[in-house]
Amino acid sequence: MIGIFDSGVGGMTVARAIEQALPDYRLVYFGDLARTPYGSKSPDTISRYSCQNVDFLLSRGARLIVVACNSAASAAAARLESSYDLPLFEVIGPAVKQAVSLSPRGRIGVIGTRATIRSGVYERMIRERRADFQVFSQPCPLLVPLVEEGWLDKRETRMILRRYLAPLKQRQVDTLVLGCTHYPLLKELIQHRIGPRVKVIDSSRALAAELGDFLAANPDVAATLSPSSEGENLYYVSDVTEAAALTARRIFGRPIQLRPAIDVGDI
Ligand code: DGL
Repeated sequence: MIGIFDSGVGGMTVARAIEQALPDYRLVYFGDLARTPYGSKSPDTISRYSCQNVDFLLSRGARLIVVACNSAASAAAARLESSYDLPLFEVIGPAVKQAVSLSPRGRIGVIGTRATIRSGVYERMIRERRADFQVFSQPCPLLVPLVEEGWLDKRETRMILRRYLAPLKQRQVDTLVLGCTHYPLLKELIQHRIGPRVKVIDSSRALAAELGDFLAANPDVAATLSPSSEGENLYYVSDVTEAAALTARRIFGRPIQLRPAIDVGDI
């Protein structure tokens, strides 16, 4: 199976893109609702949780891992790569590639959790590709709890977005990277606030396309993954909540059975 994890429901935006692009493969998802948000935690804690999440997904049959969380990718990708001998995909690389290729004037804004912005990973990766580009980053720590709570179109959410996006508007960014997989759920509000001419980048489809290319080029790996005919996709969470069920339904456009995961690390 293709194993996907995030700190909560945000990674389901990535799971949905993979489900749509690669319908022949079976997915197993884990959302760490009991310990969300990750973005305000230290890199060590995020790394430890990420390893536990991968162990859980492996125990459920995953043979390839997608880190559908920027905070986890920025804090733990190196540790995951050195600890596990299996194909690992993450959301930051595809977002960077897309932003660099689409930005008309090289003024890229990045919004993300504190952990992601503090890591400086976006600036580093963008400037590795284009040293002449300018990157303006803005941590948005209140957005993940708002999304987890299902406050997707509230006046308060719009007010907070106005405040977070004001410095990026002032810098006249031409491209804005959604550096957190929860933010696509606020994409319309974000696009409206930042302005219609700014390209808003959500990496989920680019990641799904990259994964598809990899599987086509590596049939030996593809053969280790179960086909979707073997059963439905599995969506586990470390705490089953009503808000998560509602958000999951909104993301997929259908009810999603959230299964309790009780044997994850030290939860
Ligand atoms: N979806 C996660 C990300 O992409 C949110 C992290 C969090 O829990 O703060 O960063």
